[in-house]
Amino acid sequence: MLLRLHLLPLLLLLLSRVAMAPCPPHCLCASDIISCSGSNLSTLPFGLPSYTTRLDLSHNALRALQVDWVSQPFQRLTTLVLSWNSISQIEMASFTATPRLLHLDLSSNQLRVLNSSVFRGLTELKELLLIGNQIAQIMPGAFSDVNSLQRLYLSTNRLTSFPLGLFEDPGGPHNLTFLDLSYNRLSKVPVQSLLSVSRHAGIYLQENPLLCDCALIALLEYWLWKQYRPLVDFQVGYQCRGTAVREVNCTHQDLSGIPLEAQSYRVEPGDWLRVPCPGLGLPVQQGLIVFWVTPRTALNSSASDLSSRLSVFPNGTLEIQGALMEDSGIYECVVARGRYYDSGESPEARVMVGNSSVSSTTGLARRSSGEHFNTAFTTLASCVISIILVLLYLYLTPCQCRESRGGGSRGCGARAIILCSDPREVESGQRRANGKRVAFLEPQAEDSDINVPKTPVMTLDHISTEGILKNGSRTVGHTLTDPAQEV
Ligand SMILES: *[C@@H]1O[C@H](CO)[C@@H](O)[C@H](O)[C@H]1NC(C)=O
Ligand SMILES: *[C@@H]1O[C@H](CO)[C@@H](O)[C@H](O)[C@H]1NC(C)=O
Ligand SMILES: *[C@@H]1O[C@H](CO)[C@@H](O)[C@H](O)[C@H]1NC(C)=O
Ligand SMILES: *[C@@H]1O[C@H](CO)[C@@H](O)[C@H](O)[C@H]1NC(C)=O
Ligand SMILES: *[C@@H]1O[C@H](CO)[C@@H](O)[C@H](O)[C@H]1NC(C)=O
Ligand SMILES: *[C@@H]1O[C@H](CO)[C@@H](O)[C@H](O)[C@H]1NC(C)=O
Ligand SMILES: *[C@@H]1O[C@H](CO)[C@@H](O)[C@H](O)[C@H]1NC(C)=O
Repeated sequence: MLLRLHLLPLLLLLLSRVAMAPCPPHCLCASDIISCSGSNLSTLPFGLPSYTTRLDLSHNALRALQVDWVSQPFQRLTTLVLSWNSISQIEMASFTATPRLLHLDLSSNQLRVLNSSVFRGLTELKELLLIGNQIAQIMPGAFSDVNSLQRLYLSTNRLTSFPLGLFEDPGGPHNLTFLDLSYNRLSKVPVQSLLSVSRHAGIYLQENPLLCDCALIALLEYWLWKQYRPLVDFQVGYQCRGTAVREVNCTHQDLSGIPLEAQSYRVEPGDWLRVPCPGLGLPVQQGLIVFWVTPRTALNSSASDLSSRLSVFPNGTLEIQGALMEDSGIYECVVARGRYYDSGESPEARVMVGNSSVSSTTGLARRSSGEHFNTAFTTLASCVISIILVLLYLYLTPCQCRESRGGGSRGCGARAIILCSDPREVESGQRRANGKRVAFLEPQAEDSDINVPKTPVMTLDHISTEGILKNGSRTVGHTLTDPAQEV
């Protein structure tokens, strides 16, 4: 009792201090964190303290961001949440008042176009969320100032073409390692650029009405062989519009029976070298598109610029002219083979120029490709543990997949595939195709607005489905990692 009497004045003093702090009406203030969420605000509250580091304006009625949308610069603001408003316009240079932003959330607004320089001034921004807008167009230079951007979420928009400028514009975000383009309207993707870009970035393309052609099939088979996380984690979200895979005739010859063996080649500096594509038998057909992923770039057989130092003949053979020491490394031949690669197979060629040691480059391509390729399991023990975990999840817990982006539960099923993979295969980047370890969900009722019948890209004839995962009610919910936290 005595104690309480002593504390009371102190408490009152504290409360009066809090009340005196400049917290705008409709807002909650906790030292440097301010939330004015869900207050039907159509303009910014007056007198937001300039020492704010985190400002939440979500669930309001903001319609536009003008250059003077804040009265004074927020020099310490690192997180700005503007999701769930009605923002359809952002004036150029609106963000120059918040130069220290690291994280900007503009999800669930009404943006239709990203004008050039719209994010000007955000030179330190690392993460940008634009989920659930109506963005159909990204103007050149829209991201020209956001040099530090690492993660960009463009899921659930209306993009019809892949924003290649993100990777190719000279002023673009060179450190972009995560790009989510799921739930858009992409029908074609630049396969050759993706072969190159996906070595250092996770590109998420699930739930797009992708048009099945030989280049796309080649890319997906390659990603599956590499255990590329964005594909493996969301495998069932890859749908194929138009022709079923087995009817797309990428080659008239049957490539399925030809085993793939990694070959080694050695050439003296300055000499030329021809490397046949592993597994492409003779005679080679017309109309086959063959990609080579080289240590530094990717190229294809349809662009036969024979004057360049590296070129690919129509028959898939790679030619290196005037070999340099730097040409040493792993070369991968990517072509639609209509099957998965057996354990131990590899469409690689190791090239050694001069006496430079290949051991320094062996496996480099795969390992340096970093966190987006699945190399998590290195011991049998870890796989045994994960199998047990999977079984626990399967039998003991109901599915708790998040449905936030619609495809959650399907992702769960796909997740089990990785967890059950034989670590030796995973480690060497191989997939076994004998059915047992590879599982696919049946395509589910289509909820998108594209009415063209779809067939799953990845359901090839030689793969059998695994019954337990088909029953969508019990899947490995807990093991589904949130892509936002993966890297
Ligand atoms: C939000 O504000 C607008 C006017 O600014 C008003 O018409 C509307 O009724 C308000 N909505 C709510 C839920 O308060
Ligand atoms: C983009 O620019 C055009 C013309 O300058 C303008 O009408 C439009 O509102 C701008 N869009 C956004 C989202 O700011
Ligand atoms: C990109 O990342 C590298 C390594 O993490 C870093 O040194 C460099 O400063 C970053 N570049 C930008 C523009 O942020
Ligand atoms: C083949 O390479 C050329 C030149 O680099 C490129 O323009 C073309 O888009 C590539 N084809 C495919 C299917 O990627
Ligand atoms: C592809 O080849 C199969 C058998 O070789 C044939 O039945 C089918 O009609 C071909 N499809 C197309 C689109 O050419
Ligand atoms: C591919 O074509 C090149 C040039 O026409 C030829 O030198 C090479 O032997 C061919 N390779 C195969 C495997 O057919
Ligand atoms: C590799 O080649 C260089 C010259 O090209 C030579 O000096 C060196 O001794 C060679 N190393 C070996 C291990 O043969």
